[in-house]
Amino acid sequence: MKTQRKYAGTERYPVIAWQRTGSGPAFVLLHGFPENGDLWSGIVPALAPHFTLIIPDLPGAGESTYAGPHLTMEDMAAQVAEILRLEEIPEAVIAGHSMGGYTAMAFADRYPGKVTGLALVHSGAHADDEQKKETRSKSIALLRKGGKDAFVRQMIPGLFSAGYRAAHPGVVARQTERGLQLDAGAMIAFYEAMMSRPDRTEVLRRAAFPVQWIIGREDTTTPAAQALQQAAMPDVSFIALYEDCGHMSMFEQPAQLAGDLLEFGRYGNNR
Ligand code: MLT
Repeated sequence: MKTQRKYAGTERYPVIAWQRTGSGPAFVLLHGFPENGDLWSGIVPALAPHFTLIIPDLPGAGESTYAGPHLTMEDMAAQVAEILRLEEIPEAVIAGHSMGGYTAMAFADRYPGKVTGLALVHSGAHADDEQKKETRSKSIALLRKGGKDAFVRQMIPGLFSAGYRAAHPGVVARQTERGLQLDAGAMIAFYEAMMSRPDRTEVLRRAAFPVQWIIGREDTTTPAAQALQQAAMPDVSFIALYEDCGHMSMFEQPAQLAGDLLEFGRYGNNR
């Protein structure tokens, strides 16, 4: 199936870049940090026969840009809304990996009527706690001192489970190279946006749409216990707990992830 790369722009987002492929009900896939829309390429072939996939590069990532030094989750959600407006898509299942999930939460908060389902892939509705903020501040200081290389090389391997990391060093190395493509200014903006995001557990409690939870038992970025606790909040939760999986199921367990997203997307669109 052919993938179109599409572009638009506004004053706030001079380049808005996204991919569109597939056919059927709309399904948005939001990448995390420090990624871009290509993150999803391993599972696109399984989903595209069933859904119209909209895969943005979030502002500052991939080919998308933003004006000004700062970003917020609400900015990123607004860019997603702009893409849906341009595509004339009134509603969609919104799936987000990690930071993309925080963006999906901001989208669901602001535009609940546009959400037919919310899939949180190794993500959640929580704000950063003080310890996480402190760790991010140290990383920002390192990035400001020109330490992007060290930061990315230390961070990316830790996203994968120990077993996967040992068995697939090439994938981990490729992801590290992809992470290095993001510029340090955008990394800082993303980290500041994550640090200042509010707790959105209320959005889960009042959700009129189903929520899917993709959880890695060995995920240290979004620990399973934290995700499972939040999974009790919505009226309708689909919970998938992957053994031997860290934060990166689109690489670690792609067939399982694609199958679970397919099932959830069908449910969200048929209610
Ligand atoms: C991500 O994978 O998007 C980030 O690691 C999320 C985070 O740092 O909270």
